[in-house]
Amino acid sequence: MPALLHIDSSLNLEGSASRGVTNTFAQAWRAANPGAAYVYRDLASAGALAHLDLDGYVAEMMDGAHHTPAQAARWAEREQIVAEVLAADTILIGAPMYNLSIPSPLKAWIDHLVMPRFFADPTTGRSALSGRRVIIATARGGSYAAGSPRAALDFQEPYLRAILGYIGLGHDLSFIHTELTLASVIPALAPYIEFGVISRDNALKAAAEAAVR
Ligand SMILES: Cc1cc2nc3c(=O)[nH]c(=O)nc-3n(C[C@H](O)[C@H](O)[C@H](O)COP(=O)(O)O)c2cc1C
Repeated sequence: MPALLHIDSSLNLEGSASRGVTNTFAQAWRAANPGAAYVYRDLASAGALAHLDLDGYVAEMMDGAHHTPAQAARWAEREQIVAEVLAADTILIGAPMYNLSIPSPLKAWIDHLVMPRFFADPTTGRSALSGRRVIIATARGGSYAAGSPRAALDFQEPYLRAILGYIGLGHDLSFIHTELTLASVIPALAPYIEFGVISRDNALKAAAEAAVR
């Protein structure tokens, strides 16, 4: 049975480019898979997810019977995140670019998910998480496209590729980028307003198509 895990992380609840793309994908995917399981996690909602702390970190390396109450509570949060990933065959992530990388709540979600038991086999690149499709919808105020002046400053896609590959989720990983979302706001980017509109339209089209591939 197909199952979609949909994660958003933009702090913008209205007018978010990444949320627009993930919503387009999710709606088309759900229409194509009626009755399929669908789980939504909004990492930007208040109190959504605490950062990984010492209790949550050491709990993974201990026998659960010896967890302190604090470790048990934090471990339950991590187990829930893992369970949502294991239950999905498609993982959709909205990932705006913040300060050349990803929003801290999304980083926190990754820190909770990544644990030694999921490190990919160095030979096969596979882990217990492998076999899942991952689609990441990014949104960037500027452009980091290959060949552009800021391409080398993209610590978003390379980081996500690296860490998801590290836990065996790199085999079926694709990106849909919406770029130049701030072209109409930042005067220096004004010459690129039209490119931003085209990028957004292309991303929405790509999301609708990817959902029914
Ligand atoms: C805290 C913060 C940091 C940002 N840092 C960058 C950046 O480093 N590079 C960039 O191109 N845009 C940056 N932006 C702009 C966002 O990437 C852009 O507005 C994007 O559309 C946000 O995604 P959203 O539309 O889904 O909310 C930043 C925005 C915020 C709020």
